[in-house]
Amino acid sequence: MQLERPEAISRSQTEQGATVVPAPSNDSQRGTNGRWIPGTTQIRFGGDYNPEQWSRETWLEDIELMQQAGINMVSIGIFSWALLEPREGEYDFSFLDDIIGLLGDAGIDVDLGTPTASPPAWFWKKYPESHPVTRDGNRLGFGSRGMVSPSSPEYRSAASGIAGELAKRFAPHPAVVMWHIHNEYGAPISDSYDDYSVAAFRDWLQAKYGTLDDLNRAWGTLFWGQVYGEWDEIDAPRLAASVTNQAQRLDFQRFTSDALLACYIAERDAIRAHDQIRPITTNFMGTNCPSVDYWKWAAEVDIVANDHYLVAERTDNHILLSMDADFTRSLAGGSPWILMEHSTSAVNWQPRNIAKRAGEMARNSLTHVARGADAVMFFQFRASRFGVEKFHSAMLPHGGTSTRIWNEVVALGSDLAALSPLTGSRVKASVAIVWSIESFWAQDLEWRPTVELEHRTRIESFYTALWERGVTIDFVHPSHDLSSYDVVFAPSLYLLDTESAANIEGYVAAGGSLVVSYFSGIVGANDEVYPGASPGALRDVLGLEIHEFLPLHEAETVTLSDGSTGSAWTEEVVLTTGNAHAIYADGPAAGKPAIVRNAHGAGQTWYLSTGLNGSDLSSLIESVLTETGTAFSTLPTGLEHVVRASGDAEYAFYINHADTDAVVTARGVDALTGESVDGEVVVPGAGFRVITSAS
Ligand code: GLA
Repeated sequence: MQLERPEAISRSQTEQGATVVPAPSNDSQRGTNGRWIPGTTQIRFGGDYNPEQWSRETWLEDIELMQQAGINMVSIGIFSWALLEPREGEYDFSFLDDIIGLLGDAGIDVDLGTPTASPPAWFWKKYPESHPVTRDGNRLGFGSRGMVSPSSPEYRSAASGIAGELAKRFAPHPAVVMWHIHNEYGAPISDSYDDYSVAAFRDWLQAKYGTLDDLNRAWGTLFWGQVYGEWDEIDAPRLAASVTNQAQRLDFQRFTSDALLACYIAERDAIRAHDQIRPITTNFMGTNCPSVDYWKWAAEVDIVANDHYLVAERTDNHILLSMDADFTRSLAGGSPWILMEHSTSAVNWQPRNIAKRAGEMARNSLTHVARGADAVMFFQFRASRFGVEKFHSAMLPHGGTSTRIWNEVVALGSDLAALSPLTGSRVKASVAIVWSIESFWAQDLEWRPTVELEHRTRIESFYTALWERGVTIDFVHPSHDLSSYDVVFAPSLYLLDTESAANIEGYVAAGGSLVVSYFSGIVGANDEVYPGASPGALRDVLGLEIHEFLPLHEAETVTLSDGSTGSAWTEEVVLTTGNAHAIYADGPAAGKPAIVRNAHGAGQTWYLSTGLNGSDLSSLIESVLTETGTAFSTLPTGLEHVVRASGDAEYAFYINHADTDAVVTARGVDALTGESVDGEVVVPGAGFRVITSAS
C-alpha cells in the first residue's frame, strides 16, 4: 500500500522570496497569555519521571517523596513507545492507567508525553526505508534513541496514531493537565538524506518556487553548471566532491525544520481531535538547537517550553543560562513559559560533567523564573540505574534523601511555592538583540572570508556586556516590530532579506538606535550577495560601503584610534553619509574608518567593522546606552538583577553568582522571608533575594 507522502509545510513567503516569520503575539490563541496549564496557580515544580524503569513499590515511595518536595507536576511516558504499543497497532496503556491514577490521587498533575522521539524495535525492523540517512550516506540503526526520517509516511502515521490513542484514553483524566509531544525535535539528529526526505524536499521546493526557472535563479545554478531541467534531478545536498551549492544547503535546512514541525503538528492535531482543552507543547532547546527555526515553531505551541543545561566548564555559564531564558521568553512573545528540563547538578554527556556547587541549582532555577518561567522542571526525578544516563544527576540521586541535592530540591520547592504570587507577571525589556537562525545557517556554511565569523560568540559578548549592567533584553527576529525598543543590537546578521532590511531601516528612520557588527547585511534570502558594495542590505542606513573584506591572521589584533583593540576581522570601509567614530591605527585597513556613526532619518546607527575585545566592546555598548538614555546599573561583579512586574506589583530578583556578599539598595518586602527592606540589602554570596513591592 503506497502511503500518501505527508504534506511538507511550505514556508510563508512574500513574492520576493523573503521568509516572513510570525512575530510572537500576545493573542489568546498562543502562548500563556490567557492559556496556561490548568490546575494550581502555583509555580509548576517537578520533572521528567520514568516509572517504567521502577517497581510499583518504588512508585509509591517516589510519590511520597514528590509530595514532601512540593512537586506538583511530572512529565511521564516520553520514552515508553515500546511498552505502550508492543506490537504495531496493539496498544497497552495499563501501566499509564496505574501510575496516572496514583499520581492524581496524590495531587500530582501529569504532563503526558507522546513517546515518538524513540520508535520501538518493531518499527525499525519493519520499515528500514524509514531509517535516517546521514549526509555522507550512512543509514542509522536502532539501539539508541532518536526518531526516524521526519518525512517517513510510516512514521507520521504511527506517531499520529499513538498520539491520538493516548488522547482518546487520557483526555478525560483529571490528573492529565498538559500534552508533551515528542522530545527535543532536532536532536540527536535533524536532517535525513533518505529517499522519503528527498521526495518531500522536491515537493517543498515546488511549493516554494513554483517553477524550475525560479529555483535555478534563486540557487544560482548557472554557477558550476548545476542547472536543473527536471524536478527529479534535484537531490538532497549530500556530500559531494567539493562545496555544495549553499542556497540548496540553506533550503534543505529550512525544509528539515519544516518537516520536523510537520511531525509535531500532525501529533498535535491528532491530540486536539480528542482534547480541545489542555495545552499542547514540545520541549525546545533554546539557543542551543542549530537545526530548527524556533521563531516559526513558537507560533505552533500553546505554551513555549524549553530545556536548558549549563555548559559545565564555562565560568560564565550562568550568563549563557540567562541568555537562553531571555530567548525563550522572547519566543513566547513575553508570555510566561515552561522550563521543561534542567539539571540538579552534573549532566552526563559533556566532556567533563562538573557538578553544581551548593546553591547553584537554586540560582539557576531562580534565573529562569526571573526571566519569565512559571514552571521549573528537571530531568529527571529519580536517577536511572541502567541505560546511558545512569550517571546523570536527578532530583532524587542514587544516594537518596540524605544527599545535599535532595535537600536543595526540597528547599527549592518551598521557595518556589513562596514565589508563586508572581506567576503571570512579565519582564519588560527596552533593548533587543537580533537572532536570525537562517543567518546563522547561511553564515556557518563553507567558504566564507574567514573561519572566525563565530556568530554565537559575538552574540554572547554583546549579551554579556548588557547582562553585567542589569540590562534585560528581548531577542527579536529582523522582521519583527522593533518600535518599542530604545536600542537594537545586531551582532551577527549576515543574511538579511529585503523585507527585514526594510523593517530595520524603518525602525531607524523612525528614531531607533541600531548597533551593527561586521559581516552583516551581506546576502539576501538565498545567500546571494546584494548588488553593489556590501553591506547591500544595510548600506544606506549605516552610511557606508565596504570595498574589501580584510580578515586578520589567527590571533592577529589591530589597534583603533580610540585605543580599543580589534581581532579576527577588519575591512576597507568607505564613508558615504557616515562619520568615522574611530579609525584603524594599524593593520590592513590602517587609516580607514573602523567604527562608523550615521544619522538616518530620525534615528542613528553605529557600525563596528572589527571584533572589539571584551572590555572595549563593553565600553562602547555602555556609551550607546548612555547616549540613548537607556537605563542601566553599575552592579557588583557577578550580581544578576532582573525585574518581573504585574500591574503595580514588582518582583526584583537579585541573584548573586559570586561567592562574596553583594549589597544593593532596595525597597519592599523580601518575598521569601517577609522581611521589610528599605535601603541597603545584603544578597548573600552564592544566594539570592527577591524583593517585591506587592503588598
Ligand atoms: C535532554 C533530553 C532528556 C535527557 C537530558 C539529559 O534534555 O530531553 O531526555 O536526555 O537531555 O541531559
